[in-house]
Amino acid sequence: MNTGLLIAFEGIDGTGKSTQLPLLAAYLRRQGCVVVETREPTSGPYGQQIRALYQNRNQVSPEQELDLFLLDRRQHVAECILPALAQGAIVLTDRYYFSTAAYQGAAGCDPATIFARHDFAPEPDLVLLLTQTPVESVARIRDLRGEKLNDFEQQEQLEKVAALFASFPHGCIVRIHAARPVAEVHSSIREAILQLLVTKGVRCS
Ligand code: TMP
Repeated sequence: MNTGLLIAFEGIDGTGKSTQLPLLAAYLRRQGCVVVETREPTSGPYGQQIRALYQNRNQVSPEQELDLFLLDRRQHVAECILPALAQGAIVLTDRYYFSTAAYQGAAGCDPATIFARHDFAPEPDLVLLLTQTPVESVARIRDLRGEKLNDFEQQEQLEKVAALFASFPHGCIVRIHAARPVAEVHSSIREAILQLLVTKGVRCS
């Protein structure tokens, strides 16, 4: 294989992205593909600042928060995503700029402007948008993970985020219903990937 592929997992919190991404990575590796798994916010300096804000977003304005996500993404694209694509890897990222358009859009920034500020970021070949209702997400986060909801995850906020994700018209987005057993969701994701590999003429081994 000589051309890289960029695949982003997106969706509101609690849709199972971080369960599904390693399952897909393992499947692709069994097919002989070189896979890079990555995530945003990153563990770099800006990602760490963002994570420190999780419990109290009021410390910064929505615009300042947006700037931090953009700085983190610039570094992620330059230091991880572009080099991996140049080596022909399949890059699986847990969140990408659709999250910024949805979350910082829900916080009051303009989604169209957010998309426009990402001219430095390669467009993904595929966005796997995992969908479920915010009520299902909140129940999953509270009951299954036993976690206290952080500010990002408050249900009212998630309603706005979900509505924005639902409004994005990009042709690279495939919507996957996530409120199903893990194996069923994985199988839908595999179908979408196999179709992408065929369309792009990509063969791993
Ligand atoms: P996660 O690590 O559980 O996916 O949490 C990341 C949180 O950060 C999640 O609630 C979504 C939020 N987020 C944004 O608000 N904007 C972004 O651009 C990204 C990547 C994440």
